[in-house]
Amino acid sequence: MLGLHLPSSQEWLAAANLDPASILIDHAHCEKKAATMAISLLSRYPTKSELVEGMAELAEEEMGHFRMVLAKIRERGIAFRSDPGDQYAQQLHALIRKQEPHRLLDTLIVCSLIEARSCERFQILSKSVDDADLRSFYRSLLESEARHRTTFLALARRYYPTDLVSQRLDELEHAEATIVSELPNQPVMHG
Ligand SMILES: [Fe+2]
Ligand SMILES: [Fe+2]
Repeated sequence: MLGLHLPSSQEWLAAANLDPASILIDHAHCEKKAATMAISLLSRYPTKSELVEGMAELAEEEMGHFRMVLAKIRERGIAFRSDPGDQYAQQLHALIRKQEPHRLLDTLIVCSLIEARSCERFQILSKSVDDADLRSFYRSLLESEARHRTTFLALARRYYPTDLVSQRLDELEHAEATIVSELPNQPVMHG
């Protein structure tokens, strides 16, 4: 349903289970970066009204998620810290072609893949993490990330021919699977 070519590994789940505090901190940064990305897209393409509306709504929702994760971090007495960067997202962003019209198409597809992978990881955490409170926390978030994936793909299909979207989506899905297969299984959301 999420279109991902490679499921996340058991090794990543084991790393997440050992260090839920690090997962929460990284998760907060992911939500903040999702909001930042949405604002950057609506700033870059102000004449595309569906994109502007969709990204305005998304930015607000992602900031709401950021606040939810931050509250969970505070509730557990975890010290929030700076973001060391997300190598998964950086590697995907590096595949975005620099020239338009390719740039927007690739950006929308990359964002859809990050949402899909986040949703898949929330699904895993909501079923299999040891901490029952975190299981229900992740369950409460996974539906919106699945919806965000659909939002980005619908925008891609709004501005580009369906065949072109499908072809590039297939290429980037394969690239995403390769990137995931090489991640070091760290206790971070996309580790
Ligand atoms: Fe989110
Ligand atoms: Fe999202």
